Order: sequence, then C-alpha cells, then structure tokens
Amino acid sequence: MYFVTSNEGKYREVKGIANKYGIEVDWLKMEYLEPQGGELEEIARLSAEMLSEKIDEEFFIEDSGLFVEALKGFPGPYSSYVFKTIGNEGILKLMRDAENRRAYFKAVVAYFDGKDVHTFSGKVEGEIAREAKGTEGFGYDPIFLYNGRTFAEMTSEEKNRVSHRRRAFEKFFSWLKEVKKI
Ligand code: IMP
Repeated sequence: MYFVTSNEGKYREVKGIANKYGIEVDWLKMEYLEPQGGELEEIARLSAEMLSEKIDEEFFIEDSGLFVEALKGFPGPYSSYVFKTIGNEGILKLMRDAENRRAYFKAVVAYFDGKDVHTFSGKVEGEIAREAKGTEGFGYDPIFLYNGRTFAEMTSEEKNRVSHRRRAFEKFFSWLKEVKKI
C-alpha cells in the first residue's frame, strides 16, 4: 500500500510501525496541495479526496501538527509553514515568557480504499522545552518534551512507542487487519 508523503522522517517512522503489524508500506514521494486552516481531520480528508483523482490505487496520507496551549493552539494546522519559516527558534522565542508549556502533537491518517476516505487520529501530550535538545527525529522534535526528554533525544523506537503517529497508525493498522483482512 502506498504512503504518499514528501517527508522522509514520517515515512521512516511509519515503515517502522507498519513492520510490527506485518504491513508492507511503499513510499510514493510526492508533494500535494493541502487546504489550509480548519481541523486536521478535514485537511487530511480533503487532501486524500483530491489525491484520489490522480492515484488509481489504495493509498494513505498523514497530516500532523503541533498545538501549543499558551499560543491558543498555534501553529496547529499551520505547523508545516511555521516550521519552514520561523522554525524551532521562532517557537522558543514566542514561548520565552510563557509559564504554561503544555503542548500536544496530533496526527491524522486519511486512507483511500479505492472508493471512500477513512480517517484515524492520535495525540501525544507533552511540553515545549526551554531550549532545543537532541539530534534524532525531525521537525519540532528537539523542542517537544515528553517525560523529561525531547523527542529528538529519544531513539526512533522510543519515540515510536508513544508518539501521536504511533497512536494514529495503531488504530489504522488494526482496523485494516480487522475490517479489510489484510
Ligand atoms: P504536515 O503534516 O506535512 O503538514 O507537517 C506538519 C509539520 O509538523 C511539519 O513541519 C513537521 O515537521 C511537523 N511534525 C509533524 N510530526 C512531527 C513529529 O513527529 N515530530 C516533529 N515535528 C513533526
């Protein structure tokens, strides 16, 4: 089954999770247009619907974001753009005087089965660190603290045990096994 993404970090993590379920994932490296704003579920569903006009086979995509409580959920659905522009340093600056460091990552998988789109979501709660730490992972990992360590200070196995992505794909892959008998 195809995983459509241009993000290699996501692909590597999902391949690792899929392995545990005995599911083979092929990488279809491709950029696609994402509608901006709204809920992640809506964005993922609409993106999958648009892509289904170009791809004849079954595929899935994953849309994720970082939601910071003190910033009223920012960058949320704009996470990708914000990462490319102000990046981790920019988020740390915005958070310089914030006492409340609570944040969560959310991931939504949208699967096109050849006819319909199905979505599955996962969330992990943590905190925004005071400074970037660690070299593993990708994106906001160096500033996302989970149980005292940033995601970038964990091995990919450790992150994969608790991440938003793991939680969303766990739901998706067990559903696939049960409903689709894959
Ligand atoms: P999108 O899902 O491709 O729209 O990307 C969302 C943004 O959040 C990108 O900038 C990613 O780098 C970032 N992001 C998504 N998941 C993670 C994660 O597991 N760790 C760190 N950053 C992430």
